[in-house]
Amino acid sequence: MNERDSEMMLAQLQRAGHTIATNEKSADVVILNTCSVREQAEIKAIGKAGYLTRMKRTNPNFIIGIVGCMAENLGESIFQRNSAIDFVVGPQRLHELVEVIENGGKNLRIGESKSTKSDQDFSYRLKKFNGTAFVSIMEGCNMRCSYCIVPKTRGKERCRPVDEIVSEVEFLAKNCVKEVTLLGQIVNKYIGMETVTGGGKATFVQLLERIHEISGVERIRYMSPHPRYFSDDLISAHRNLPKLCPAIHLPVQSGSNRVLKSMGRTYGREKIFEIVEKLRTAVPEIGISTDIIVGYPGETEEEFLETVSLFDAVRFNMAFIFKYSPRAGTRSAELADDVPEDEKERRNKVLLERVGEVSLLYNQRFVGKITDVLVEGHAKRGKNIMFGWTPNHHKVLFSATENDIGKIIHVKIDGFATTVLLGTIVD
Ligand code: 5AD
Ligand code: SF4
Repeated sequence: MNERDSEMMLAQLQRAGHTIATNEKSADVVILNTCSVREQAEIKAIGKAGYLTRMKRTNPNFIIGIVGCMAENLGESIFQRNSAIDFVVGPQRLHELVEVIENGGKNLRIGESKSTKSDQDFSYRLKKFNGTAFVSIMEGCNMRCSYCIVPKTRGKERCRPVDEIVSEVEFLAKNCVKEVTLLGQIVNKYIGMETVTGGGKATFVQLLERIHEISGVERIRYMSPHPRYFSDDLISAHRNLPKLCPAIHLPVQSGSNRVLKSMGRTYGREKIFEIVEKLRTAVPEIGISTDIIVGYPGETEEEFLETVSLFDAVRFNMAFIFKYSPRAGTRSAELADDVPEDEKERRNKVLLERVGEVSLLYNQRFVGKITDVLVEGHAKRGKNIMFGWTPNHHKVLFSATENDIGKIIHVKIDGFATTVLLGTIVD
């Protein structure tokens, strides 16, 4: 979501006549787009801002701003932490950025947007073309997961009207975008009724069907769904809509019903088993990944082992494991953060090892097969080595040229190295 917001900010600034600097040292303005989900992310951003404000010594016109969730979360106190910071803009006010930069002086823009104008100006989106684009379908979140800062930073749920989303995807498709990823805190809660600008009405599945009809779009992904709203018609959509990619990121958070209840997740582990079984029946090769929090307040060894047993039963091929981090203002911050750091670390490692074993086997299934890959760009290793993604959301490295960026090509998978597949183009 932050990536999409950064893209939108760049587009706004370019439209207003600004140019993108090639590196931070040559920039007159640096904007740090931040995350507040865990404390570590905030510590990093504050540290980076401290480092960057030193640039004011050599360039007195240098401007530095903090935007995104940390801006919203810490607000004015950011100026107290570092008085050299020029502006602080929350995620709901990013469309005011040009005005803020051109205003000069200290600016604090947090809280809900006063403007009724949609910040979804998509006509300037194609900053870097690589065939794939994020499309926001809703912003904010009305859930109250006990550990989560997002409802505070991103505000109440607001769904964009269907027609606006469809126009955006049509525009992207006309400009050679082949893959769209629909974004929202809970995409499958999309109802298209509370809108930013008025208009449309639809369920998430209807929206998927509308997008599926758009010619030029070859792949559709979405992130993230919430287990509670994972309906049978969404599972059927995976069977019926060939463009819908066979890869799902389904944040589960814990395998213990006691912990899930305390987290306010509104489902139990049985629901996860049910969704996964139905999904695998509909699409046997589907990739399923997840988010897990270890060391949530009061999480006992037995409760942790329930997460391990859920891992063993579900066999996620990828998982982000997070060590619980109390966030001030959330409900769980009132509970004692009583799992020691080294125990959180151990639990983290146990799950990572588990998922590593499964992902190895999952990767092996693709060796020798020919798969579609959307070429995204240069890989870090080697000059003509490119990377791209399979429909199952595997990253693949292969030799190709810049001309292939943005194309869907056929690649034979020869092997793999930890998390990436290695292949050769076959046409
Ligand atoms: N501590 C640790 N992890 C968290 N997440 C959200 N809030 C916290 C927190 N306070 C994780 C969840 C979520 C992902 C984006 O970040 O797993 O799905
Ligand atoms: Fe946070 Fe829960 Fe909303 Fe996800 S669903 S953004 S974890 S409050």
